[in-house]
Amino acid sequence: MQELDRLARTFHRFAELECPGMSALYESLCNSLAEDRDLLAIAADARSGQPVPNLFMAAVHWLLLEGVRHPVSDYYPDISPEMTVHGDPYPIFRTFCLEHREEIVDLISTRLVQTNVVRRCAVLLPAIAVAMGRDAGQPLTLVEIGTSAGLNLLWDRYLYSYSDVRRWGDPDSPVQLSSVIRGSLRPRLPGSIPQAVFRVGLDLNPVDIRDPDAVDWLRALVWPERDDEARMLEYAVEMAKDDPPLLLAGDALELLPEVLESIPSDSTLCLYHSNTLNQFPREARERFLEMVEEHGSVRDLNLISVEGRAGRHHCAVELTQYQNGLKTNRRLADNDSHGNWIQWLETDDPQTGSKY
Ligand SMILES: C[S@@+](CC[C@H](N)C(=O)[O-])C[C@H]1O[C@@H](n2cnc3c(N)ncnc32)[C@H](O)[C@@H]1O
Repeated sequence: MQELDRLARTFHRFAELECPGMSALYESLCNSLAEDRDLLAIAADARSGQPVPNLFMAAVHWLLLEGVRHPVSDYYPDISPEMTVHGDPYPIFRTFCLEHREEIVDLISTRLVQTNVVRRCAVLLPAIAVAMGRDAGQPLTLVEIGTSAGLNLLWDRYLYSYSDVRRWGDPDSPVQLSSVIRGSLRPRLPGSIPQAVFRVGLDLNPVDIRDPDAVDWLRALVWPERDDEARMLEYAVEMAKDDPPLLLAGDALELLPEVLESIPSDSTLCLYHSNTLNQFPREARERFLEMVEEHGSVRDLNLISVEGRAGRHHCAVELTQYQNGLKTNRRLADNDSHGNWIQWLETDDPQTGSKY
């Protein structure tokens, strides 16, 4: 009973904080689902530790994208772009879920929420520029914690535009990321493309982009209105197939010590995680930060965190730096969770004094 009440709050919170402006369909469905004990009972079978609304919605989306024929697909703009239906989609969605209960339970009890949002690189890029700071000419090492398919490790192969004017990156890249700059401050961009000497992604379950089933699940995790994200995902996957990044399978806490030991000492080390720490239990989050702290006492490093903020609609970009054993922490920007906009918060770089 208590479990269903807790889940109901989770679905309401998801509808209220994560869906507005991103998916009118999921906002409406999740608000109704939160009041529906029969469907909450199905959702209760989700794998523990996972963000249940994302997982549940992806399971239904997966079945529809795989070709299960049902009138509910008329409400999904990526499946029925002509969208001739109007009105409340919930009754027909509910029928679908009850009819396909077994398949949904099978998916939500085995799959993971591993949405790899390539546009988040538009938020990562200025944070790397700040992290490089005085060492802009130095090679870079990037370690991503919770990397999913590792597509954001390839950030230097994409083309970026900010509010359609400022451009950065490879003009011939098929992956073109645009993000809107909010406010008056401009994010810093690297003067040139840093030379990445080593990049590695850590994940409990790295997504193999050469496995069609795994790529289909990534696709199902994209929300039905986000055809731009589906396209970027498709192009980024195609690009990465030629030269995929190194991904290691396992719990980041177990992998990290050995990975950190292997990093060239003469490179600028950036650890990076986005929309991942919410999947760590509290003790694991604390242990992770302790490990970073321990390593920061023996070598210079940067930790770039792009994570949600409790009770807020948006995320924050934070940079923690360890230099000569000294720790500093700065909130560089606010951003929306899919990188659609970024609001830069710093007027100048405390390290160099230079204006952005
Ligand atoms: C929502 S995805 C985010 C992927 C990517 N960072 C992005 O922003 O597009 C979170 C990822 O973290 C991974 N993850 C969760 N807990 C983990 C852990 N303890 N160790 C390693 N990876 C973990 C999940 O498997 C999943 O692929």
